[in-house]
Amino acid sequence: MSALKTRFSISVLLVCFWAAPVFAADITAGEQKAAACIACHGPKGKSANAQWPNLAAQQSAYIVSQLNAFKTGTRNNAMMQSIAGNLSNDDINNLAAYYFSQPPVSAGGDSTLAKAGQSKASMCLGCHGPSAEGNGQFPRLAGQHPEYLVKQLNSFKEGVRKSGHMQAIANTLSEEDMKALAAYFGAL
Ligand code: HEC
Ligand code: HEC
Repeated sequence: MSALKTRFSISVLLVCFWAAPVFAADITAGEQKAAACIACHGPKGKSANAQWPNLAAQQSAYIVSQLNAFKTGTRNNAMMQSIAGNLSNDDINNLAAYYFSQPPVSAGGDSTLAKAGQSKASMCLGCHGPSAEGNGQFPRLAGQHPEYLVKQLNSFKEGVRKSGHMQAIANTLSEEDMKALAAYFGAL
């Protein structure tokens, strides 16, 4: 009985230990660090430039993986590679927690195109979430700038940006499909 009890407390301890790094992310520290991001990604992660993605409400696990990808050079972008190179693991976790905690924004877009995109979007929602809000490593697409989304889809199609899933999917999309899907997601 007491052995069982001991085992139980050890497993509870282990659970707390494993959970600790997730809850340790410091949103206030992330907000302070985000001063270096505002010039491009806008206040609270709402970007005013269609080439620069909104980060507001983006999935924190996805932000962490992308900042690491820029840092190690597996995702290419001169601006982001030099910025991410100067971030520590704590900075990355705090920034991700801060942006995920911000209210979502909608980029808006061409409503006729958005309607055309809606009919193709169902094949994306299984991974990107029923409202395209994202899920862990699957990024939020809802409200993202359509121009940015089209650019990323082309990067996957050309193999410049690597992702097994997305490269295969982007290969099946024409330029018109991409524009329609991007207009649909941007308007959410
Ligand atoms: C000089 C402009 C600039 C600054 C400053 C900047 N970024 Fe970026 N960021 C970009 C651009 C441009 C992209 C899109 C790169 C691409 O097209 O692949 C991007 C992409 C990203 C992405 C990927 C988003 C996605 O949806 O995949 C993340 C995460 C990110 N930036 C975080 C940050 C953080 C955190 C900071 C501050 C520490 C920062 N950025 C500062 C320009 C900037
Ligand atoms: C099998 C799962 C899966 C499906 C289905 C899927 N995606 Fe993705 N998508 C991903 C993953 C995983 C990533 C992140 C890739 C990475 O880590 O760089 C991603 C990334 C993206 C990005 C980049 C977002 C950003 O912020 O940079 C876009 C755009 C995108 N997907 C659009 C789509 C569209 C449009 C569809 C439907 C036609 C779709 N995806 C279907 C898994 C999927």
